[in-house]
Amino acid sequence: MDIVDRIVLTEDVIQARVKELAAEVSHDYSGETISLLCILKGGLMFLTDLSKHITVPVSFDFIGISSYGDSTRSSGVVRITKDLEESIEGRHVLIVEDIIDTGLTLSYLIKNLTSRHPASIRICTLLDKTANRSVDIPVNYVGFQVPDEFLVGYGLDFRELFRNTPYIFVLKPELYSGGSNPA
Ligand code: IMP
Ligand code: MG
Repeated sequence: MDIVDRIVLTEDVIQARVKELAAEVSHDYSGETISLLCILKGGLMFLTDLSKHITVPVSFDFIGISSYGDSTRSSGVVRITKDLEESIEGRHVLIVEDIIDTGLTLSYLIKNLTSRHPASIRICTLLDKTANRSVDIPVNYVGFQVPDEFLVGYGLDFRELFRNTPYIFVLKPELYSGGSNPA
């Protein structure tokens, strides 16, 4: 089944930008060690590619956080579905996220992580959908600004599928159950 309506970011474009971000991060954290904190599951592809090009020491940890369930609208109700395994106290934490939409997920997460006393917290997101932002959050590294449309691929899912494509695309409208919102 052909599911791709339109490719928004090709594999080459994503990979080139990921390398640029990694260079920026490496420069900014020169002499430090970074705790890369990947938000599951969407941030996984980005974490692996980004980390390959970071030149300072990094550790990985993973947090599962959900505000969406199977829907595509942020509910504002956020819960931790899998917590970190390592302490972040005194560590330089860089949150690696696939996309920021309303910002509710990260807003909650930053409050939660701050209470664990890290040395610093910064945010690195591949995609930033500023049109829907409902809370102000400081985003330190952004791969691409994207318009308000539902994107899939390279970590982003539609009902848990299509995270594995190396490019980011808009689905064929007939795959949505109704309207422009694939909820
Ligand atoms: P926020 O709390 O509204 O910022 O939600 C961010 C989360 O919503 C992201 O980590 C994604 O899991 C999900 N999300 C937002 N927009 C999209 C999209 O276009 N495609 C797939 N997932 C999305
Ligand atoms: Mg996500």
